[in-house]
Amino acid sequence: MGDGVLITIEGIDGCGKSTQAALLCEALVARGLPVGPAGAPGTVLREPGGTPAGEAVRDILLHGPDSLAPWTETMLYAAARAELVARVLRPGLAAGRVLVLDRYIDSSLAYQGYARGLGIDAVLAVNAPAVGDAMPALTVVLAVAPATGLGRATGVRDRIEREGIALQRRVADGFAELARRFPQRIRLVDGERPVAAVAADVTALVAPLVEGRGV
Ligand code: TMP
Repeated sequence: MGDGVLITIEGIDGCGKSTQAALLCEALVARGLPVGPAGAPGTVLREPGGTPAGEAVRDILLHGPDSLAPWTETMLYAAARAELVARVLRPGLAAGRVLVLDRYIDSSLAYQGYARGLGIDAVLAVNAPAVGDAMPALTVVLAVAPATGLGRATGVRDRIEREGIALQRRVADGFAELARRFPQRIRLVDGERPVAAVAADVTALVAPLVEGRGV
């Protein structure tokens, strides 16, 4: 799988990950690293989405029918992921790019596996054929209180945000469980602090790893 590196930013809704993923990309570009897909340098990839089919699936998931059975939801997220891995992540990694992702497999493990109660291992098993060895070298989970996250969510709430704070509490517990389970890969960063302080911590975690791999 080339010399590329996959970095993922995760957390509950409204934890600040989109802002932090963009700032991380900027910081890595400023260090002269080949960030983002070759066709869209310097950009963050988002899940679900990042490909035409993936964006269409995102629409069903976030703005489609109000109720989806948990396994339907899980497999739609996995389908969007399979497309992203095949079309964007594998080629990018093979080309030695540093790919920053706003959500990836750990969102499925936390939301569907833990919070929806399907089981982390069962959801991992569904995703394994799509993801294969395209696993993140490092995953940063931005930890914020569920009330903080929902308070930050502005504009029209999507299908998952509309479920409210009880779901977000379970998702937060899910990410904490994942951090315990995969301590080498997953790092928790306190996301309740000012944006610049969080960004400094995220860059400090990621930069040495990326530079150290000689990308
Ligand atoms: P966001 O990217 O704007 O945060 O919206 C994505 C929503 O989808 C968010 O509520 C988290 C949820 N989600 C899952 O439930 N499982 C997944 O695998 C992914 C990628 C996202």
